[in-house]
Amino acid sequence: MIRPRLGWSLPRVFAHRCGGALAPENTLSGLRIAAMLGVRAVEFDVMLSADGSPWLIHDETLERTTDGCGRVCETRDDRLGVLDAGAYQHPSFAGETLPSLESAARLCRKLGLLVNVEIKPAAGLAATTGEQVARQVRELWAGTDLPLVSSFSEVALAAAREAAPDLPLGSLFERPPADWLARANQVAALSLHCDAYALDDSVLSAAWASDMPVLCYTVNDPLTAAALFRRGVTAVFSDRIDRVGRVGLD
Ligand code: G3P
Ligand code: MG
Repeated sequence: MIRPRLGWSLPRVFAHRCGGALAPENTLSGLRIAAMLGVRAVEFDVMLSADGSPWLIHDETLERTTDGCGRVCETRDDRLGVLDAGAYQHPSFAGETLPSLESAARLCRKLGLLVNVEIKPAAGLAATTGEQVARQVRELWAGTDLPLVSSFSEVALAAAREAAPDLPLGSLFERPPADWLARANQVAALSLHCDAYALDDSVLSAAWASDMPVLCYTVNDPLTAAALFRRGVTAVFSDRIDRVGRVGLD
């Protein structure tokens, strides 16, 4: 299977969950802060609502990052759209709403931010989530640089590949298993994403031999980022773009 390529070159630093720790995670404020700091690319998490619409949120449940409660996949769009997704971090962010993928795409395109969409399926909904997110990404970024789409769920990635054969995909593991390359090749992934602290040099060598960039999460210290780049890591996801973002400025 031919790997679809990215239409853009990977920057050194992706703001993790939109704006890292400088804003409530997975929010439009985070995207604005990332752009203001000169970060070129952002990563965010996407999950389906009860209506099957994609929203930016990390957890399967609403309690940690919003004033709602219950499972995201059992909550309708009209309810998700009025939740407060900012006050949990700081009162100055009160009133920040949960972004739909559509609103995030519009803002990223306006701000010129490159994107890694991480598909976060709720339990039992991996295939549906992969398919829906891939279709929407394809539509929302039509005519411009397509995001890199990744997931820990191989079922979601396979469904995304089937729904959008030309979508650039990334295989995401906490610690890459021995057969990570075969599993990445099964979905024609172009990149390997993994925990920075679970990356062996043997994995890096195999990735380089296969012309596959390696992206590591979550790196909040500039010296650690610099050391990873020296080892051959292409990019890092960071919550501290105010510190690590400088390492990545070309
Ligand atoms: O995509 C990289 C990273 O975001 C994966 O971990 O749990 O922060 O989504 P998590
Ligand atoms: Mg993520």
